Amino acid sequence: MTTTPFVRDQWYVAAYGYEVGRELFSRTVCGEPVLLWRTEAGEVTGMSDRCVHRRFPLSQKPSHLVGDQVVCGYHGFTYGADGACVNVPGQRRIPRTARLTSYPVVEQDSFVWVWIGDRELADEKLIPRAPWLDQPGYTTVSGMEPLAARHGLLVDNLLDLSHETYLHGGYIGTPEVAETPITTEVDEQAGIVRVSRHMEDAVCPPFYAESTGITGRITRWQDIEYHAPCLYLLHSRIAPVGTPPPDADGGDPDAFHVEVVYAITPETENSTHDFWAVARDFALGDEKVSGFLHDNNRTVVLQDVVALDVLEKAVAAERDGYQELSINIDTGGLAARRILKRLAEEAAR
Ligand code: FES
Ligand SMILES: [Fe+2]
Repeated sequence: MTTTPFVRDQWYVAAYGYEVGRELFSRTVCGEPVLLWRTEAGEVTGMSDRCVHRRFPLSQKPSHLVGDQVVCGYHGFTYGADGACVNVPGQRRIPRTARLTSYPVVEQDSFVWVWIGDRELADEKLIPRAPWLDQPGYTTVSGMEPLAARHGLLVDNLLDLSHETYLHGGYIGTPEVAETPITTEVDEQAGIVRVSRHMEDAVCPPFYAESTGITGRITRWQDIEYHAPCLYLLHSRIAPVGTPPPDADGGDPDAFHVEVVYAITPETENSTHDFWAVARDFALGDEKVSGFLHDNNRTVVLQDVVALDVLEKAVAAERDGYQELSINIDTGGLAARRILKRLAEEAAR
């Protein structure tokens, strides 16, 4: 399996807003080290994390912020919030090329999005939304786990939840997940893949039993929306068996809703930032439920991380032309691969 190339000319989640403050913070996105910090006015700004002089990482001490300027910790080149160099040591003239690549940055839905690619093409309206993460009526827990695997493996993993039964038994997996067929819808043009699995009478796994308090069997709907390349949404609907379906106007007062959000951000060709968040519309502000969902979901994410780290090694070592076998459950994953390939080709033109 060749690595899925990075799709450039796209928005990627580089961080949660809460990770970025008045400390210099760095994260590599699609192979580009991005320095993030907040100006005194509170705006997040992004620029290359390599000094133009001798490449010293500006996130590295003793580099530091003075007001809204970054001072390189090696020889003191100093940059403004737009990346332009404003001071060099030992001379008055600042070379015209002394400017760090700066990245378009948008803070939205608790995420810090950066545009990787041709900045002329950066359009904020293209950023897919995950409003629940920062909206009254929901309580959210979140985290990020580093994955030593190519991002394509995480896309495969998240688009085929039948693995919950095997990899996440005792947490979110029950026999019905693997047994219930899916429906898949692909909007090639918009780059969106939808995979749905509606289980009408299923065991309630501990993840939902403990958080909702439901004791019997449940109706469990999983509706996935993957917005290539970065954002993955899982709309999860949980209700006691026999609960009526949502009304025509979308009202669904007797069900519990959990919005599981992943941002799949390539770090390098063989590593990925696995951002995860779980927003719920019940037990709002209940610290015990928040603690439980945080720890349980993180455990589930780490089960995937362990499996995908192993898989990356296997895939990296295999001979060229290895033939995978795909079945019905892979329809969504295959569509996602196709879209990622097309987007990468279009951006490379
Ligand atoms: S490497 Fe930054 S000033 Fe020399
Ligand atoms: Fe998983």
